[in-house]
Amino acid sequence: MSRLFVVANRLPVSIEKQGEKITYRQASGGLVTAVSAFLNKENNRFTQKTWVGTAGCSEKLWQAAADSIDTDYDFKPLFIPAKQYDQYYNGFSNSVLWPLFHYFPSFADYQPSFFESYLKVNVEFAGTLLRTLNADDTVWIHDYHLLPLAAMLRKKLPGLTIGFFLHIPFPSYELFRVIPREWQQELLSGMLGADVVGFHTEDYQSHFINCVKKVLKVRTENQEIYWQGRSVRTGAFPIGVDFERFNSGSTNLEVLSKRAEYLRSKQDKQLLFSVDRLDYTKGVFNRLKGYREFLVQNPGYRGKVVFALVIVPSRDSIGKYAERKSMIDEYIGNFNSRFGNIGWQPVIYQYGHLSFEELLGLYTACDLALITPLRDGMNLVAKEFVASRRDKQGVLVLSEMAGAAHELTEALLINPNDRKEIARMIRAGLEMSPAEQEERMTAMQNRISSYNVVTWAKAFFAELDKVRHAQQKSEPQLLDNFAKAKMLEKYNKAEKRLLLLDYDGTLAPFAANPGDAAPLPIVIQLLKKLGSDPKNSVYIVSGRDSVSLQNWLGHLPVGLIAEHGTKIRHQGNEWQVRSAPETSMALAEVERLMEQFVNQCPGSFIEKKDFSVAWHYRKADIALSGVKAKQLLNALMTSVNAAVLSVLDGHKVIEVKGANINKGLAVKELIQPQSQDFILCIGDDQTDEDMFKVLQDNKAAFTVKVGNEPTLAAHNVLTPYLVHELLQRLSITAEAMQTF
Ligand code: UDP
Ligand code: G6P
Repeated sequence: MSRLFVVANRLPVSIEKQGEKITYRQASGGLVTAVSAFLNKENNRFTQKTWVGTAGCSEKLWQAAADSIDTDYDFKPLFIPAKQYDQYYNGFSNSVLWPLFHYFPSFADYQPSFFESYLKVNVEFAGTLLRTLNADDTVWIHDYHLLPLAAMLRKKLPGLTIGFFLHIPFPSYELFRVIPREWQQELLSGMLGADVVGFHTEDYQSHFINCVKKVLKVRTENQEIYWQGRSVRTGAFPIGVDFERFNSGSTNLEVLSKRAEYLRSKQDKQLLFSVDRLDYTKGVFNRLKGYREFLVQNPGYRGKVVFALVIVPSRDSIGKYAERKSMIDEYIGNFNSRFGNIGWQPVIYQYGHLSFEELLGLYTACDLALITPLRDGMNLVAKEFVASRRDKQGVLVLSEMAGAAHELTEALLINPNDRKEIARMIRAGLEMSPAEQEERMTAMQNRISSYNVVTWAKAFFAELDKVRHAQQKSEPQLLDNFAKAKMLEKYNKAEKRLLLLDYDGTLAPFAANPGDAAPLPIVIQLLKKLGSDPKNSVYIVSGRDSVSLQNWLGHLPVGLIAEHGTKIRHQGNEWQVRSAPETSMALAEVERLMEQFVNQCPGSFIEKKDFSVAWHYRKADIALSGVKAKQLLNALMTSVNAAVLSVLDGHKVIEVKGANINKGLAVKELIQPQSQDFILCIGDDQTDEDMFKVLQDNKAAFTVKVGNEPTLAAHNVLTPYLVHELLQRLSITAEAMQTF
């Protein structure tokens, strides 16, 4: 067990002094809500948890307040000189990165002094951490204020475990490129100091990978980036909420009394609400304009609805924010005087912080949540609103520009720039039947209760574990020049050779559609050459169906093994089936189960083969499919008869096939220990481990894993392109020997 250091710009508490009285409250924003919820719940993995961040008050005030703050973790406050903090926080973080990453490039102010202070404050964070860190600690860095920090730590402590999570969108290269080039490099290489770099959505993740490729010109493979001798993994981990806290909190007495207050003040009117930090990204004007349009289009609703609009103070020393505040004040004043009357105010506006109880009171009293950001990394308010509705009533109108829209697909989704659509959806929401509200709420609650804040953090740490494990394991195993030379020498001397090659991920890189991974000309050429050598027996050992293999490779001088060993075709012969007859009936049952999951998880699909059936979820929504994959796996584990079928949990695919069929058993029949003096087996997937296992003690065998995950193979290469290179070397060597 190690110690965990969570690092974010600010500590999760905000301390204030009014007269002699010192008070503290939770700092505002999604990062603090989520990470503190995780830290309060996490108590198994780490021996000690410390949150490192700026205190947001003087050292003296902090000392006076610190003892009264009650949390399950420690604090390590930083006190940064005011001017430097201003240029780092108001300057580079919130007047360059924030507007640019939220697609407001015209709001960005590229002052060199901002960037200098940004780096200096990051150095300050690094110094504070390095004074306490041990090599076996885990550091989890959060958000855009600290992009360069991971690399600074890595430089001093190369073996440290570092995760980084970005809570805001990562923009496309077209936007990222407007930052001065040197800054671009510093920011990206800074992030790559981490072992895992996490984002809310796959879009942000792929923008990041694309920027890294373009700016740093490095090699990437799927979600991995090879950087300075390490492999850095990227991932999409949509942040969740503490579902239980919001769901059960709605029955708390104080919450009920706040709710009653809201209900009293709305009387018989329908209540709309929104809560956001003061921010131009939140689309408050668009929202008000949409609401205005609704009142214009539906005059019958005047006097029958009320909109409670709460703005939480934020960053108001930045011009663009202060400006926004006065514009909102003015707009609402005009709105109320234009539409309201003595007995009715269409907008009730509050500028201030809400306590947890007030927030929950509002969430549970309202009829409709109107959440319309122009761009938002996730938007936790939307998820909290859904979580809090034990009554399964209430309608969520949500901008499709919020990361949360990927998961909350039963919300009424709107384009925040389309005020007519907002108006239409407000009306649809207010008129939605209780039964439909319940149906939509239930579906959204099911999703966010299973993918909650703990699942989010667990998924992130599981990835971090995998990468660290793989890094440690793969280092000594890479097929270096020395190992390659040894292999070539043995190959040359051998009189009878067996080559066992997996197809997908080994000879061919992965494609989104299995049907798109046809062999490249280089692969055809290599197989032709290797297969024509009379000393060689070459087999393609694949999970694919026999028809695809036959179509793509059937004309080559190689043997084919399909469906993980269910069918085999020795070169020049017909296909033979190796499966037991009872599997077909059992597989039909499995297919029926998988069909239900296809219906529940858009984008997933079934691939049917002769003796196996697979559910692919590579193209489905990451959060939803992650949950569904676990459910399907559980359902299969408990329902299938292990004597007849076996279940494989692969790369974004769950496959069920006949038991006693695996690649290991299939190739076992091809191995002749006395006569073969060279065996090469290459594969990338969990299913290839069965072949590696069979060959583990075979002195003639070279086993090679593609990728750097833990493996039974003796060596690793990192990509299919390096497999091509290796096979080419073998074929050239053989040719050269023949002409010698
Ligand atoms: N929130 C807060 N103070 C308030 C009202 C709300 O801290 O007075 C919380 C709210 O519960 C939510 C977070 O602020 O967890 C807002 O997160 P969101 O992802 O919606 O937006 P962000 O502010 O992070 O951009
Ligand atoms: C967003 C950012 C957080 C930030 C929060 C509040 O959620 O992603 O990093 O803490 O807003 O903003 P503030 O500037 O007040 O910390």
